[in-house]
Amino acid sequence: MQHTAVLIPGDGIGPEVSDAAVQVVAAAGATITWDTCQAGLSAIEAGASAVLPEVTLKAIKRHQIALKGPCTTPVGEGFTSVNVALRKQLNLFGAVRPVRTMPGVGTRYSDCGVDIVIIRENTEGLYAGIENQISAGVVTSLKVVTEAASRRIARFAFQYAASRGRHKVTVLHKANIMKLGDGLFLRCAQEEAQRWEGRVAFESLIIDAGCMRLVQAPDRFDVLLCENLYGDVLSDLCAGFVGGLGVTPGANFGENEMAVFEAVHGSAPDIAGQNKANPLALIMSAVMLLRHLAQSTNDEACTAAANRIRDAYNGCLLAGEATTDLGGSLGTRAFADAICMRLA
Ligand code: NAI
Repeated sequence: MQHTAVLIPGDGIGPEVSDAAVQVVAAAGATITWDTCQAGLSAIEAGASAVLPEVTLKAIKRHQIALKGPCTTPVGEGFTSVNVALRKQLNLFGAVRPVRTMPGVGTRYSDCGVDIVIIRENTEGLYAGIENQISAGVVTSLKVVTEAASRRIARFAFQYAASRGRHKVTVLHKANIMKLGDGLFLRCAQEEAQRWEGRVAFESLIIDAGCMRLVQAPDRFDVLLCENLYGDVLSDLCAGFVGGLGVTPGANFGENEMAVFEAVHGSAPDIAGQNKANPLALIMSAVMLLRHLAQSTNDEACTAAANRIRDAYNGCLLAGEATTDLGGSLGTRAFADAICMRLA
């Protein structure tokens, strides 16, 4: 079966890790045609007037699926965040970020067997971007919480948990202080939880206490349900359990199966163009893309390709073939080549 997906190489390390992901997907035998589009700084540099050009949005709407490298939003030039814009304009309301202990990657938490999935509400909260300068030295940032979006993400979290055989959803909130806003988010989660009683367990934790418990015993957590900002912060925190941003993939889901797959990390300008970036997070995101295609099109070849890529990168890591962020000595390209060798 032939598939077409949008590829957004992105900025900074984006083109390097995207090249690696495309190379690995092809080596695994998946038949994907990539419709390459620009977003972020590279779109502006290519002459677009917006960080998220209309042509890119249209392509994602047409193909319903994309693999996206990290994008840089130019700071202080009046551009809104390309990622926030993408998620809002395509209504990609749910971010899914799996964090798992990787074979061969030693961390302080190696013995814990971390296997957490963060589900983050992507469209509102403080990321609604409503900020006002009230007077000199006084700024307000409005946190938007709607019942519709809170119910939608709670339903998504439980459906996700149930469909993947996961046993518990933990909602993290600050409803003791933000009684109305976080209170509404919490209430929606509690009401959804009642519908899943006996099938998926539920707990709620105040976010500060939850963070302490997370670092004490990450293995007692399963699916985390968070509003936008908490999900953003917790994604990086949890990445630290398993080896950092180089091994944390992600996906943003919208209505009607639309999905944009991207790593949690950013464009890493400090190492861009140096063949140092770890492409694994984007390669793992591509594996998630293949599994999504397999599910939405019943194409078993996509599942087979996803499994082969997973086995190949696990084999590399176990053999100590890794990039420098994971203690190895390989550059971006050599690591991608090492995975492809195992796929040959
Ligand atoms: P970052 O994730 O780009 O970098 C944080 C640190 O992690 C840096 O030291 C970097 O070298 C390292 N790192 C990140 N990815 C890595 C990889 N694959 N391999 C090895 N090391 C890696 O976060 P930062 O510095 O806060 O943001 C840089 C730019 O990225 C900003 O313009 C930001 O807006 C953008 N960004 C874009 C995202 C996206 O497109 N989804 C997400 C987060 C940030």
